[in-house]
Amino acid sequence: MDAISVIRTKRDRDELSDEQIDWVIDAYTRGEVADEQMSSLAMAVLLNGMNRREIARWTAAMIASGERMDFSSLSRPTADKHSTGGVGDKITLPLAPLVAACGAAVPQLSGRGLGHTGGTLDKLESIPGWRALLSNEEMLHVLDTTGAVICAAGDGLAPADKKLYALRDVTGTVEAIPLIASSIMSKKIAEGTGSLVLDVKVGSGAFMKTIEDARELASTMVGLGTDHGVKTVALLTDMSTPLGLTAGNALEVRESVEVLAGGGPADVVDLTIALAREMLDAAGLKDTDPAKALADGSAMDVWRRMIAAQGGDPDAPLPTSREQHVITAPSSGVLSRLDAYGIGVAAWRLGAGRARKEDPVQAAAGVEMHAKPGDTVTQGQPLLTLHTDTPERFAYALEAIEGAYDVAAPGTEFAAGPVVLE
Ligand code: URA
Repeated sequence: MDAISVIRTKRDRDELSDEQIDWVIDAYTRGEVADEQMSSLAMAVLLNGMNRREIARWTAAMIASGERMDFSSLSRPTADKHSTGGVGDKITLPLAPLVAACGAAVPQLSGRGLGHTGGTLDKLESIPGWRALLSNEEMLHVLDTTGAVICAAGDGLAPADKKLYALRDVTGTVEAIPLIASSIMSKKIAEGTGSLVLDVKVGSGAFMKTIEDARELASTMVGLGTDHGVKTVALLTDMSTPLGLTAGNALEVRESVEVLAGGGPADVVDLTIALAREMLDAAGLKDTDPAKALADGSAMDVWRRMIAAQGGDPDAPLPTSREQHVITAPSSGVLSRLDAYGIGVAAWRLGAGRARKEDPVQAAAGVEMHAKPGDTVTQGQPLLTLHTDTPERFAYALEAIEGAYDVAAPGTEFAAGPVVLE
């Protein structure tokens, strides 16, 4: 077998055989297939697709590239959630402790920011002392003692995906449904969760811009999970406007703590509760009410224990930005559009995300929103506050914000769509 014949097969729109897929994933993981060859194959997959058999085999080969975790020693059923990535999507932060407070064990292997979308680990690292990297034993210990753990996937879990994901990020090959589905599901299946809820984002701030593409991604992932014995369901949720009122690392932690304290923006609270219900249902825990666990402080108790168990100080003040720039409403009326992609790119450029893989992120950088679509605004009132430690970034971020919002005439009717689309 050789890489060139595998690339040619997909380039010429033929089906890859099981043997070709097993070989190329294994050889790439071992370094026998070069990055430039794998990136050529990834581009051929992006352009020409893969059928269900090919995707299933590709996923199985990525799982087989590493170890599988085992949570069978836990006394509680396991439930996990994965979002395909969005702007202001801090849901994992309140959700994991909430579902744990309702009786499930939540092993949440999370990622870092990707392009304009934020990453859960980058957000949590703004809490002084908090550690994302845990050994498998530490992960199990935190999960067993607090009910939830949010951490980075260890090096042994789907190492083929780790390599391929980094390669796709810099070769314009992220947005391929077969590659996204196999990337996400190989990690989740190898992680060993009993049930999984997928939050498939749709809209300008998501990788899937249309509901049709989101449906295809969702059904592909549900099929993969189900075939591997993981009870898997998917919600399609709106990502045309950011979730909540913040996009950035420490800013989003602050908002998540507000949600755990019984406050926070309605869209974040509603989606957190909707996903919690799905997770509890999938884990067979139908008799608990997540809205109650949010209101009575039990989710907050789990959050505090979970953060402390990973070295973080839940009472430490969060970092704040050295410089701010306020954008005001250009006229009075109704905020009729606030575009998720524009806000995401601005937060990224302010320092909340990375330009290169090895770059650090700024904990305090990001965008704070003072109004949501549908809100009445008055000319001159603050609409957005941009935060950064490096003010030379403002001009570049402002370019992304330009054209990212509209204020319609006073009294304009505005019908806010639901957060959960399907
Ligand atoms: N998240 C992943 O883990 N993989 C992808 O390919 C896209 C989003």
